[in-house]
Amino acid sequence: MNIQKKHELAIHAALQAGELIMSRREFSVDAKAVNDFVTDVDVRAEKLIRESLASACPEDGFFGEETGEGAGAAAGRFIVDPIDGTTNFLKGIPLYSVSIAYELQGELCFGVVYNPASGELFSAVRGEGATRSGESIHTSREDQPARSLIGMAFAHRSTEGNERMMRLLPGLCEKTGDMRRLGSAALDLCYVACGRLDAFIELGLHLYDIAAGVLIAREAGAVCTGWPGEEDLLKTGNVLAATPKIHEFLFHYLAEY
Ligand code: IPD
Repeated sequence: MNIQKKHELAIHAALQAGELIMSRREFSVDAKAVNDFVTDVDVRAEKLIRESLASACPEDGFFGEETGEGAGAAAGRFIVDPIDGTTNFLKGIPLYSVSIAYELQGELCFGVVYNPASGELFSAVRGEGATRSGESIHTSREDQPARSLIGMAFAHRSTEGNERMMRLLPGLCEKTGDMRRLGSAALDLCYVACGRLDAFIELGLHLYDIAAGVLIAREAGAVCTGWPGEEDLLKTGNVLAATPKIHEFLFHYLAEY
């Protein structure tokens, strides 16, 4: 099956998962680790996505937040977070998303991020630009740090990461326009893609949180890298995504620390 068809299937699976997520009023919650929650809706949504993609594309692998990596080697694989922003979901904050990326021989080919609470669907195919609900999107043109709006997160699951973030915050608050903590890294990256945020920085994310969003942000003109000295963001999960000028500023700022 060609990439375009797989992309259509991924969009369909994300919409179906979104329908399931929005239909649930009650759910059970477990803690996977400190401050790391999973609901039965995460598990069901991932099962739905996995079954629908596996039956249409048996040649591909699958790596999901809740079910891990499928057995067997495959050239291509789907990388899935059924609910990115589970804490927002369980608190009723409408900022969470279904994230599906497709990687072939180590290269991201497409990404789909769907917020079922708002109905916004972000999507990109490598080399073809990015869209929000079918309309072409681009990053903002912001080039002044003092006017920039920065998405960020506290490293709330790691003492070391948290200390690192806390050292950065005073200077960031002083030198940038303002900051936001949305609670879904996939949406943060899409918000950079469509110009709602001028940058996004976070430490210690997982591949399934960011794979789709990174491709969408890049296709919309964002510069997405790791933090200074840790360039492979998909391996480290330490992300710096921004308009070109704001990226330059933040990269230098982070390098000083
Ligand atoms: C979380 C969200 C959140 C980020 C966390 C992630 P999850 O994903 O992306 O914004 O700060 O680090 O783990 O656990 O809800 O899929």
